[in-house]
Amino acid sequence: ATEASEHDLIIIGGGVAGYVAAIKAGQEGMKVACIEKRGVLGGTCLNVGCIPSKSLLNNSHMYHQILHDTKKRGIDVGDVKLNLKQMMAAKNTSVDGLTKGVEFLFKKNKVEYIKGTGAFSGENEVKVNLIDGGEQTLRGKNIFIATGSEATPFPGLTIDEKKVVTSTGAIALESVPKKMVVIGGGIIGLEMGSVWSRLGSEVTVVEFLGQIGGPGMDAEISKTTKKILEKQGMKFKLGTKVLKGDSSGEGVKLEVEAAKGGKAETLDADVVLVAIGRRPYTAGLGLENIGLEVDNKGRLIIDEQYRTKLPHIRVIGDCTFGPMLAHKAEEEGVAAVEFVKKGYGHVNYNAIPSVMYTHPEVAWVGQNEAELKEQGVKYKAGSFPFSANSRAKTNLETEGMVKFLADAETDRILGIHIVGPNAGEMIAEGVLAIEYGASSEDVGRTSHAHPTLAEAFKEAAMATYGKAIHY
Ligand code: FAD
Ligand code: NAI
Repeated sequence: ATEASEHDLIIIGGGVAGYVAAIKAGQEGMKVACIEKRGVLGGTCLNVGCIPSKSLLNNSHMYHQILHDTKKRGIDVGDVKLNLKQMMAAKNTSVDGLTKGVEFLFKKNKVEYIKGTGAFSGENEVKVNLIDGGEQTLRGKNIFIATGSEATPFPGLTIDEKKVVTSTGAIALESVPKKMVVIGGGIIGLEMGSVWSRLGSEVTVVEFLGQIGGPGMDAEISKTTKKILEKQGMKFKLGTKVLKGDSSGEGVKLEVEAAKGGKAETLDADVVLVAIGRRPYTAGLGLENIGLEVDNKGRLIIDEQYRTKLPHIRVIGDCTFGPMLAHKAEEEGVAAVEFVKKGYGHVNYNAIPSVMYTHPEVAWVGQNEAELKEQGVKYKAGSFPFSANSRAKTNLETEGMVKFLADAETDRILGIHIVGPNAGEMIAEGVLAIEYGASSEDVGRTSHAHPTLAEAFKEAAMATYGKAIHY
């Protein structure tokens, strides 16, 4: 062990929350070190989350489209073959390029990158078990915990990442399973279920609740999305719970029954994907050495400035409150450094978009109808279908809609929900509108280029305070 070195800021975890905070701190001239145990920067998102899943979603969509959706467009194709090994290699190329990019940004901004596992050995002291062997002790005036999250296991099913997989195994399967059962119809279940369904698996999604999409998705949008995914071949068992699983034989057997009780049924699968949510990851951090506690969901408890009860220790990203999203983690990384450096920082949690990268995409920001009803807010809704949008028609991609929810009296936009082509890019306009407190009329009276999908966005806004022109 070497003598402890003194830092303005030590960050434990080099995922999106941690690496963004580290770069920001470097830009602010702070002496900063970031500890990452994976040996690669970028965390879940870059290594086994957002990036590899989007690579597979993009390329599996192209494959599926070439197989099923070219004839009517006047393109006759010959033999189409899947080369899964190459699809995985393309994924790895994207991941490597991006993680190396973060390492470059660390150098550029003078962030000290320490490869190893960090644990508190004192209130201002972190001991690192180095990947290359040995130990290093760091002392920090400020310490950020950014250790992220992990897949929630399903009781009684042992994850082997081959037959019973989390998303980590699901982005790395070596062959296309004949039958895949997904436990949990949330974002991971639908994204990864889509990938394997497009590549040829028979995919059945078992969801405990009566709707798909996970928390936050508007019920009407969820219903439309389910219909679209069913047309693509995915099967759904809603209101269904998995009682137990057995992976001791060749495949996996799952016993399921209606959530309200009823006759049990057995589902056979070659691969089962467990996607029932993620939980904060703080194991091995030595929280007990400094008396920091987590709540009943495993989240580190903080105040509005991300401070724990030891105010020089802050927590950002998936291991604390809020949606487990990369862009939320990123905003917190910047804000937490600003709190340290300047005494103020801000994240508008009402303007964090959610995007599900299926085809078509689903995207939303703000509140959904059920949430507004629950809060007793009087609202009005306006929507516009892509089937009436000229660009969607030229692209032969007319499924879905844009829906606005606005305050009944003031017309201020409260929520925007989209299922349709390019929804994930389109929602950025909605986020800006909510961030700036726009009314639906502000958006409806803003010129949108023709012919673009974004005109559906404008017309949904028009339908909220008045009438759409083209529907
Ligand atoms: P993480 O990215 O989990 O990073 C934490 C890091 O800390 C890890 O690298 C870990 O190795 C390290 N660490 C933990 N303990 C220690 C320790 N003691 N010492 C040193 N290092 C430690 N979000 C989106 O916004 N868009 C998406 O499209 C999207 N897709 C996803 C797809 C999948 C399959 C999954 C699983 C997640 C996806 N997410 C997506 C969520 C996103 O990945 C997370 O919200 C994001 O990674 C959170 O960042 P974080 O820095 O808080 O945690
Ligand atoms: P999720 O919370 O989105 O969905 C989990 C689903 O599983 C819910 O619908 C829930 O009702 C259901 N469920 C829970 N227990 C169940 C059980 N026993 N049986 C059947 N169904 C059950 O969680 P998911 O999909 O695992 O994703 C975790 C998180 O990762 C997301 O919430 C999101 O924060 C992040 N993520 C984000 C992505 C994006 O932004 N595009 C992509 C992938 C993940």
